[in-house]
Amino acid sequence: MERTLPWNWYTDPEVLRLEQERIFTRSWQYVGHKGQATDPGSFFTAMAGRTPIVVTRARDDELRAFLNVCRHRGSVVAHGSGRRETLQCSYHAWTYGLDGKLRAAPRSDRELDFEDEELSLVPLALDTWGPFVFVNPDVDAPPLAEALGPVPAQVAEVLDVDSLEFRFRTEFELDTNWKVACENFLECYHCPVAHPGFSAVVDVSADAYKLESNGLTSSQFGHLRAGDASVFAGGDIPHGQFHFLWPNFGVNIFPGSPNLSCGPIIPVGPERTARFLDYFFAPDVDERWMNELIAFDNQVGREDTALVEGVQRGIRSGVLDAGRLMPQSEQLVAHFQRLTAEALAY
Ligand code: FES
Ligand SMILES: [Fe+2]
Repeated sequence: MERTLPWNWYTDPEVLRLEQERIFTRSWQYVGHKGQATDPGSFFTAMAGRTPIVVTRARDDELRAFLNVCRHRGSVVAHGSGRRETLQCSYHAWTYGLDGKLRAAPRSDRELDFEDEELSLVPLALDTWGPFVFVNPDVDAPPLAEALGPVPAQVAEVLDVDSLEFRFRTEFELDTNWKVACENFLECYHCPVAHPGFSAVVDVSADAYKLESNGLTSSQFGHLRAGDASVFAGGDIPHGQFHFLWPNFGVNIFPGSPNLSCGPIIPVGPERTARFLDYFFAPDVDERWMNELIAFDNQVGREDTALVEGVQRGIRSGVLDAGRLMPQSEQLVAHFQRLTAEALAY
């Protein structure tokens, strides 16, 4: 019998503290896309788990990531996004270059031995896959390409990610633990029951819907039902691909015209999760097709919200201490739970 993770891991603040320390400060986190800092002299901010991040493109055109925390007394330094040559903390006006170096600290000339060269913003690892920007607070982490494994090549079979244009971002929060949201993404065992619209278009039967895991990634491949005449039929992309990079990054590619949406699943509390999804399309994708896809996706999203919030209400009761996984249909959930348990184990 394959047991789930203990259900108190989905409500206990101490487990979330350990996850922040042992998972989120050591893994690749999607923070946005290159279009948010195209020109030298620009920056944007993001959160990687609970870690505030600023991504900059300085005059030397290099994309860099820093901990967005002032070296003085710890205020968050940059807000939002913009174009400027320096980042100034709003507390006491310490000012940093986009290369992270401390340029000015008011009254520092009155202090003995003010070691400004040791007070740069803390650099973090930054890496990209096509237009997608990832940050890892652990500068010694293996490269992003290693983490992504076979996923970029699988995506490249149907889509050139470099040709995609960013269109919009959706943001929302869920009353559930971040792991419940990830696990829900990782199985389509619930699709025939809970997603009638999706299941009418994609063949979600156990033999047709393919699951695959590899290192830190999990992938699902769903073909259109034979004879499907929906808006998804007959486009450049013959089947759907849904990828996940542990611990918390999802990618959706639907059949049809070139499309991709992706984003992180971020814990904001033991029972509260924030998500955002960045939507990209090829430049020539028809506006009407795009709207149909978004309406379809929003419907699936509403259905999933009800599911994950229902799970949280069930598992938080504390009477049962774990559930029972289906090792075939939920093999990607089992993979996720193994990686998570291993990361927390030391
Ligand atoms: S905390 Fe940033 S300048 Fe004081
Ligand atoms: Fe779902």
